[in-house]
Amino acid sequence: MTLLLLLVFTILSCERVERVFLEEDLLERPPAKRCADCHAEIFREWEKSRHALAWKSEKFRIETENFRKLKCLSCHAPHQVDPEKKPALRVEFREDGVSCVACHFKEETKAMHGPLKVWSPPHPSKKDLSYTKSNFCAGCHRETYKEWKLTKVQKTCQSCHMPSLGKRDLIQKFPFYLLHLAKPRHSHEFPALKAKPEDIEVKLEGSKLVLKNVGVPHNLPTADQGDPKLYLIAEVIYADGRRRVVRRVFSPQAKTALVYGKPKVVPLPKGEISEVRVKIMRRLAWSEKRELIKEVTLRTPSP
Ligand code: HEC
Ligand code: HEC
Ligand code: HEC
Ligand code: HEC
Ligand code: HEC
Repeated sequence: MTLLLLLVFTILSCERVERVFLEEDLLERPPAKRCADCHAEIFREWEKSRHALAWKSEKFRIETENFRKLKCLSCHAPHQVDPEKKPALRVEFREDGVSCVACHFKEETKAMHGPLKVWSPPHPSKKDLSYTKSNFCAGCHRETYKEWKLTKVQKTCQSCHMPSLGKRDLIQKFPFYLLHLAKPRHSHEFPALKAKPEDIEVKLEGSKLVLKNVGVPHNLPTADQGDPKLYLIAEVIYADGRRRVVRRVFSPQAKTALVYGKPKVVPLPKGEISEVRVKIMRRLAWSEKRELIKEVTLRTPSP
């Protein structure tokens, strides 16, 4: 009877429940795998993301000369993420790359910050709306953030790169998940998006091709350090039957990426053009694969 009363009392007093169920190692910067004990689903998404590979990436290892280039390391193994601040380099578990603890744990409050108001006895949590804003990503994706800001488009990075998954459980651990309601969830896979054909406008104006990024509110392609590419392959067919192939490569490193809303003119060899077969492809920074974005045949309007 006394035991039962004690149990009821403990359950009723939130603060006590929190102390009883507090798992202190969660506040001592554990590896991401530890968060999977409860947040199994979010962990599985994150594991597939480029963030989880930021340190393990073979290209990164080579380009930093086996992690010897100190100035390269902090965004790939950050200690703590704060809006618009370049992070400091983490000491522990660098192989976790951009990890759960780096993005969610704040030294100042010794709590997990996130977009929701939650009751989380194993660790303190704090609702923090900075997680829903683009400048949360800005400390690392510095160039992309600057480009995005200039477009004045209101949609946030998260709304495209962390798409909503509807309401789901935040934790999967039995029996504790039974005590929590489903809540708004966002993909931690940061799925590799691809521009849609209509995101790039292509027009034939006399003997020029004019390309315009009208759908992706940052440069195309965009990067801070990586070297992604956009390829244009235009086969020009002239009235006299001649064919010429014009190729262009656009990249952030060469400062030739397509700026949102700004036309890019590509002159074609002179002659009476009857049609142009255009292909636009892309290659991501960490991949060797070329993927088709758009294929279109343009004809000069008949007089
Ligand atoms: C602590 C630094 C940091 C923060 C904060 C951060 N990222 Fe990243 N992000 C990286 C790094 C480093 C990579 C590259 C990982 C790799 O491929 O080696 C990356 C990769 C990505 C990629 C994949 C890029 C590609 O080439 O395919 C996307 C998309 C992305 N981040 C979006 C976001 C968004 C959206 C946010 C904000 C919610 C964000 N990131 C916050 C560091 C960060
Ligand atoms: C023993 C279980 C458990 C472990 C392990 C755990 N959490 Fe949680 N976490 C919870 C519970 C319970 C909630 C609240 C769930 C709910 O309200 O649906 C929560 C909520 C959260 C939230 C949401 C906060 C907000 O205000 O939006 C974040 C972020 C979070 N946890 C991060 C982490 C990180 C990072 C780790 C690993 C260091 C971790 N958690 C490990 C149980 C756990
Ligand atoms: C690149 C930084 C980053 C990393 C790494 C990261 N998160 Fe998040 N997380 C966010 C952001 C930003 C949001 C808010 C998304 C929104 O509301 O649009 C979020 C939201 C959440 C939420 C609230 C529910 C939801 O899906 O919106 C939980 C819980 C959470 N994260 C836990 C984790 C755990 C556990 C890990 C590691 C397995 C992790 N996060 C890794 C940035 C990150
Ligand atoms: C309207 C949706 C949208 C918004 C908002 C947006 N992006 Fe993107 N982003 C895309 C699309 C689509 C691509 C793929 C382009 C391509 O085909 O290569 C992309 C590509 C990227 C890439 C290159 C790697 C990849 O996955 O293709 C990074 C990094 C990135 N975005 C970061 C950001 C950041 C950081 C912000 C906020 C400052 C942001 N994006 C805002 C749609 C968006
Ligand atoms: C300010 C934060 C920051 C710093 C510092 C930084 N990176 Fe990155 N790195 C990123 C982000 C964000 C990405 C994701 C794609 C992009 O925007 O380029 C990335 C992607 C990459 C990629 C492509 C993805 C992959 O794994 O293949 C390589 C390679 C890379 N970085 C190497 C470096 C090198 C080398 C340095 C030092 C010269 C460096 N980075 C410094 C933020 C940073």
